[in-house]
Amino acid sequence: MAHTRVVSVGVLGASGTAGGEVVRLLLGHPAARVVFLGAEGSAGRTLGAVHPHLAGTPLGSEVLRTLEEAQAEALEVAIFALAHGASARWAPALLEGGVRVIDLGGDFRLDAEAYPEWYGFEHPAPGWLERSVYGLPELFGGSIADAELVANPGCFPTPVVLGLAPLLAEGRIDPSPIVVDGKTGISGAGRSPSEATSFVATEESVRPYRVPRHQHTPEMERALALGTGVDPAVSFVPHLVPSVRGVLTTCYAPLAAGETTDSLTDCLRRAYAAAPFVRVLPPGGMVDTKRTRGSNAVELQAVADPRTGMAVVAGALDNLGKGAAGQAVQNLNLMFGLPETLGLATTGVYP
Ligand SMILES: NC(=O)c1ccc[n+]([C@@H]2O[C@H](COP(=O)([O-])OP(=O)(O)OC[C@H]3O[C@@H](n4cnc5c(N)ncnc54)[C@H](OP(=O)(O)O)[C@@H]3O)[C@@H](O)[C@H]2O)c1
Repeated sequence: MAHTRVVSVGVLGASGTAGGEVVRLLLGHPAARVVFLGAEGSAGRTLGAVHPHLAGTPLGSEVLRTLEEAQAEALEVAIFALAHGASARWAPALLEGGVRVIDLGGDFRLDAEAYPEWYGFEHPAPGWLERSVYGLPELFGGSIADAELVANPGCFPTPVVLGLAPLLAEGRIDPSPIVVDGKTGISGAGRSPSEATSFVATEESVRPYRVPRHQHTPEMERALALGTGVDPAVSFVPHLVPSVRGVLTTCYAPLAAGETTDSLTDCLRRAYAAAPFVRVLPPGGMVDTKRTRGSNAVELQAVADPRTGMAVVAGALDNLGKGAAGQAVQNLNLMFGLPETLGLATTGVYP
């Protein structure tokens, strides 16, 4: 279907893993046109040279420009996919010029006082933090439509918050504490080569990292509090696993009296009955990252363990799909009054 409305988009960080996926998705989006590709060290190279899988596309021979040059472009929205701290420096000038922003990084997801502790920098634009909307459409869709600045959620917080929020809001689980176990594929670490993410270090290895200081911890707590009015304490342990894409999260929380697998599942089903990308699995179903690969889908599953009095709430998604670029496109659709699923797959590529 031809769309009369075509949104002009700039992608800042088009040279990175997440930015490259944003460009790939927008190449297939019928109501968006990428008019600016920005990069840092890769500025001056072509998109196709940096991302060989995009070389044969209409944007393949476009030269990546410097981030400064975005200001001279007639953009309606700028999608940022930069290293931590860089969006907070570059986004305000565009926002003040009337360009709407979707940031895939963590620079606009927390309150100002959290940045020195969790990201290691003093936030340079706290005024914009107060105006940013947390871009989890299933919970905050109403505010996203009019937002100037959308903080696209992190890959781990997305399934955790989607899985826990309805159960917390209805008092079916106890908030203190909630233990969250996360697994991520290696594309979650971006494309800069390092010993820790090299083939020799990751092949046949599963290991935790950044325990207990991962920056997604305060993001989960804040988003759950915003979405439910309940203040949870989260203990989060992420692990790196030897796959390319995929995030799997398993949350453990005390179960409220009388709750069963059926009642938890029913709660999630009601919450997401109208959400096109959320698949709540029936009792007995088990989430699987592989089924979400290449799509904007997220699978959720809730199980009651009456023997221990615990609820187990699991989620799976593609870290570059619903965990990053896909969710950014979903937010773009909502911000510009387009159908929520436009340009996005609701089912994964399998096998
Ligand atoms: N990978 C994921 O699964 C994922 C999921 C959710 C969110 N994110 C977020 O997306 C953002 C990008 O992550 P990524 O995984 O795509 O990382 P990446 O592959 O390492 O890409 C980083 C991007 O940032 C640019 N950059 C690096 N240093 C910079 C600096 N000092 N100033 C400005 N730009 C700089 C790079 O440009 P050059 O290469 O041209 O230097 C590149 O475009 C991060 O904020 C990350 O948290 C990533």
